[in-house]
Amino acid sequence: MANDKVSIHGAWASRWVFILAATGSAVGLGNIWKFPYMTGVYGGGAFVVMYLICIALVGVPIMLAETLIGRRGRQSPVNAMKSLAIEAGASRHWSLAALMGMVAALLILSFYSVVAGWSLEYILGMGSGRFEGISGEGAGAAFGGLTGDPWRLTLWHTLFMFLTALVIARGVVAGLERSLRIMMPLLFVLLLVLLGYSLTTGYFRQGFDFLFHFDPSKVQGGILAAMGHAFFTLSVGVGSIMVYGAYMPKNASIGGTVMAVGLLDTLVALTAGLALFPIVFAAGLEPGAGPGLMFVTLPIAFGNIAFGQVMGLVFFILVAVAAWSSSISMLEPAVAYFVERSGRSRAQVTAVLALLCWVVGMGTVLSFNVGAEAKFFVFGEEGFRLFQWGAEGGKTFFDSIDYLTSRILLPLGGLAFALFAGWVLSREALREELAAKSPLLFNLALWLIRVVAPIGVLVVFVAELSK
Ligand code: PFF
Repeated sequence: MANDKVSIHGAWASRWVFILAATGSAVGLGNIWKFPYMTGVYGGGAFVVMYLICIALVGVPIMLAETLIGRRGRQSPVNAMKSLAIEAGASRHWSLAALMGMVAALLILSFYSVVAGWSLEYILGMGSGRFEGISGEGAGAAFGGLTGDPWRLTLWHTLFMFLTALVIARGVVAGLERSLRIMMPLLFVLLLVLLGYSLTTGYFRQGFDFLFHFDPSKVQGGILAAMGHAFFTLSVGVGSIMVYGAYMPKNASIGGTVMAVGLLDTLVALTAGLALFPIVFAAGLEPGAGPGLMFVTLPIAFGNIAFGQVMGLVFFILVAVAAWSSSISMLEPAVAYFVERSGRSRAQVTAVLALLCWVVGMGTVLSFNVGAEAKFFVFGEEGFRLFQWGAEGGKTFFDSIDYLTSRILLPLGGLAFALFAGWVLSREALREELAAKSPLLFNLALWLIRVVAPIGVLVVFVAELSK
């Protein structure tokens, strides 16, 4: 059956816009904040190698699976999977995977908006010269002051959520496509400016060696982290890429397009690392600072090198734009679904869902200050407790949502999407959607989707849970 369906939500003007959109979704806090600090924590080159392998063998194949399900189904992920399952004579319950992904994306958005909000505060801080000549203590206190103040966190969280909703409410073409056409080139220019600057610090070589020096003894510790990060950074396992696939023109080749997105995402992560580590070294700091790297170490670095304030401003604008183009992709699957289901206007549906995410996000806001003692998933002396105030162990609200999504929901979603594309859809459907140039390429893609990616996810998932 030829695939002539179109989505009721609109369509990208060309496959380039799909690349822009999917890259916009993939490139975000994961690349600029998480990747450099994880590389720092897991010892540099060994982590980078593992990450690249996971991207190639698991991340990109799942992205391929999502894109082709989306384009074939031409609806929100839930309805796309439902109708394709019925068409293939399989259980309509496959759509539960997309439903779970949709919820996961909304949960991610709830905390992503809070962290992205921090970058808004830092834009202001860099712009006003507050970090000029700042000491380590001063930078730590500034970050602690921000996270300790629920009102300020709420303000930025609200603003960021509003910006996200604004783009989504305007629709696929007038909102998403139009903003992405501005955001993405801006993002690449900012990144190149930063890279150019780090080349002049005199520490480029040291940063480069840190990122690419391979120490085999460090490989083991980072494997699980690398796999989890591959999911997060490519935005796979939640349906974001699937919904963007639904807006993709029908004649565009999926294989090459998805490869381009995977490559661009990797390139941005590596470039961000190459741009940031020399700046960290130039300020005489250590790269293994953990999650604080971006909000504590970098302000010190920017505050104490030549032209650091301007570069710091450029950097935090980059972070905010990258986070914005990602956050919209977390909201779109649910908005598309409820528009299809309720027949209400996109603006109404967006407002309700954004408000919902905002409320859940308040849990994250409070988990850094007045609610820091609220602990979930506590394994204590009296056994397991879902919630306990002031418990020793356990996770804060923010940590719980992060853990639940990245470690559990994304891998499960990714697994289900790969199995669905590989084993439920017919070979003809796959052949038509992939439109591979040679049988060899087609078989390779099929093998990656059917076997390699699912096994990869399962191995890591089981190892992770049994830790
Ligand atoms: N890929 C984004 C990043 O690296 O920051 C995060 C993300 C976006 C996760 C969209 C999930 C998602 F649906």
